[in-house]
Amino acid sequence: MKALKERILRDGKCFEGGILKVDNFINHQMDPILMKSMAVEFVRRFAGADFNKVMTIEASGIAPAIMVGYLLELPVVFAKKKKPSTMENMLTTSVYSFTKGTTYTVCVSKDYLCPGDKVLFIDDFLANGNAAKGVIDLVRQAGAELVGMGFLIEKAFQHGGDSLREQGVHVESLAVIESLDNCQISLRD
Ligand code: G4P
Ligand code: NA
Ligand code: NA
Repeated sequence: MKALKERILRDGKCFEGGILKVDNFINHQMDPILMKSMAVEFVRRFAGADFNKVMTIEASGIAPAIMVGYLLELPVVFAKKKKPSTMENMLTTSVYSFTKGTTYTVCVSKDYLCPGDKVLFIDDFLANGNAAKGVIDLVRQAGAELVGMGFLIEKAFQHGGDSLREQGVHVESLAVIESLDNCQISLRD
């Protein structure tokens, strides 16, 4: 997506360890006009898919997910990272964070991820795909169906996208980073 790629090149900052900082327009300060354009692009790319719910993980996935839900008038559910005080009625899974080197629990209520739900997952980054794998596990536990996964930015050099596509998941990424070597942002055409 042209507008996103131009914004990444203009305002994205490259950090040691292959981290792209986009907190000028996605992660901290948010650009709602660009966010809306990105949601419109997701709607276009998943136009052939049948889903009744949008899902994400807190925190940075919520903004793009709610834009998609708003456009399609569908509910948006975010999986929570904090273990709730009562685990009753909750589905939980463990996610290993490559960036932070720790494992955390994500959970979602069975009231909001239900048998028969058809889910479109939206998130800001696809890196190693561990968060995405956690979501796949939650959807499976719920007896729901994963219809597709849309990411604002895929870091191709971390191969989470390869793994998801090999599993047959319909993955759409609005910008694909080929490399951040030598702190140079290299985008796929
Ligand atoms: P994975 O889920 O694809 O395996 O990624 P990983 O564990 O490496 O990522 C952990 C967190 O770091 C995720 O956010 C992910 O969105 C974010 N992340 C991964 N690569 C980058 C990057 O290059 N730049 C930025 N800004 N973030 C990146 P999170 O911990 O779940 O936090 P939140 O921001 O959504 O709350
Ligand atoms: Na995220
Ligand atoms: Na993040």
